[in-house]
Amino acid sequence: MPQPSLPTESLAYALQRAAQALESVQKGTALPQALAQATIQCPPAARAASQDLAYRAVRRLGSSRALLDLLVKSALQARVRDILLCALALLRDPPEGAAYTEFTVVDQAVEAIAAQRRTAAAKGLANAVLRRFLRERNALTAQIAEHPEARWNYPLWWIDTVREAYPDRWEMLLAAGDSRGPMTLRVNTRRISVAQMQANLAQAGMQAEVIGPVALRLAQAVPVERLPGFANGWVSVQDAGAQLAAPLVLGEQPHAGLRVLDACAAPGGKTGHLLEMADVHVTALESDRTRVPRIYENLERLGLQADVRIGDAGNPSKWSGGGWDGVPFDRILADVPCSAAGIVRRHPDIRWLRRASDIAALVDEQRRILLALWDTLAVGGELIYATCSIFPAENERQAQWFERVRSDAVRLDAPGQLLMTPGGAHDGFYYARFQKR
Ligand SMILES: C[S@@+](CC[C@H](N)C(=O)[O-])C[C@H]1O[C@@H](n2cnc3c(N)ncnc32)[C@H](O)[C@@H]1O
Repeated sequence: MPQPSLPTESLAYALQRAAQALESVQKGTALPQALAQATIQCPPAARAASQDLAYRAVRRLGSSRALLDLLVKSALQARVRDILLCALALLRDPPEGAAYTEFTVVDQAVEAIAAQRRTAAAKGLANAVLRRFLRERNALTAQIAEHPEARWNYPLWWIDTVREAYPDRWEMLLAAGDSRGPMTLRVNTRRISVAQMQANLAQAGMQAEVIGPVALRLAQAVPVERLPGFANGWVSVQDAGAQLAAPLVLGEQPHAGLRVLDACAAPGGKTGHLLEMADVHVTALESDRTRVPRIYENLERLGLQADVRIGDAGNPSKWSGGGWDGVPFDRILADVPCSAAGIVRRHPDIRWLRRASDIAALVDEQRRILLALWDTLAVGGELIYATCSIFPAENERQAQWFERVRSDAVRLDAPGQLLMTPGGAHDGFYYARFQKR
């Protein structure tokens, strides 16, 4: 724990908390959980500052590690190393209009190291390292650019996978994944029109552009509590690419009463969209019971209802509530677990948490889920296979495999692979659509 002498509003305090979160990420914890643990006793302002620092550090992890390897030849204690990684990220990627100078960053990083008994001995070294970075920044940065992990800020296997899949666009894709995605809203047209919502946002000082049938892209991200009508379910936060799912499932003129299975539902983003669009009957299934409350929270805020079940999509007889009732679904959305390689601009930790071997395991799991769900689909019904990945093994290759193994599956039109672009409107997603013959 930080010493009581370190003011919670100081940059040094936030650097300590961010470094703790960074340490957990490098041990395999997802960044949001790592931050929640690291900032559990923080006042809100310190939590926000630590979050900003930790995201900045994770985004720059590959290059900051390479820089540190050049700057320090001896072994460093983990916490010292992580404070330095956070400080380097801040020096290289300062927030717009930052109220502090580079030397303040150095002083505060040294302060953060000096304030803890177990790290205090490294304060002189930390000071020397950061000051040398400021002096030799250009030469050091040029030196690390030769290492792909440092150049692109992704693990090597990830870079190779993207390069192999997209030989003509891999650099653009890696850069796009390293940019910050826009904040996009989905308007709940049961409650308010898109034009009215846009006007309400403008009145609250927020510029928003219409980028889809019910999608508004904000010029500046804001905390959700500041969005007019958020608590009343006027809007949800959802990427424009994710907003393609519900219309694809329901078609242009959805008829009331359709039986829809949202097979991998938490946190319920697409469940809500399906129910906003039409009076359909949605079964929202989720295997992770810790994520199920999020489905209820979202539905309650939107004023909508679904039949929420807990269970494995790959084992319908075991779903909570007595298992699948045997009445086939008219539509199934299989928004399967995946690498999440398409949403890296919002989740910069994903690339460091995944291992190359995870992909083959995910492919097997996606196939198991697909095959089981197909048996619950009505003849003439449609299944939408969706991922937030850009890796072909999870996407087009899966769709082709499915067509091969299920002779009663007819491929219908769907968006296929969506790729993110730098500053682009949507994340990377994949959609395939099958009809049962
Ligand atoms: C991509 S996320 C779904 C996002 C959600 N459709 C939305 O739009 O908000 C995949 C979800 O599937 C769940 N899941 C993973 N394996 C599953 C399985 N075998 N059966 C059901 N759900 C599963 C995960 O816990 C996760 O919540």
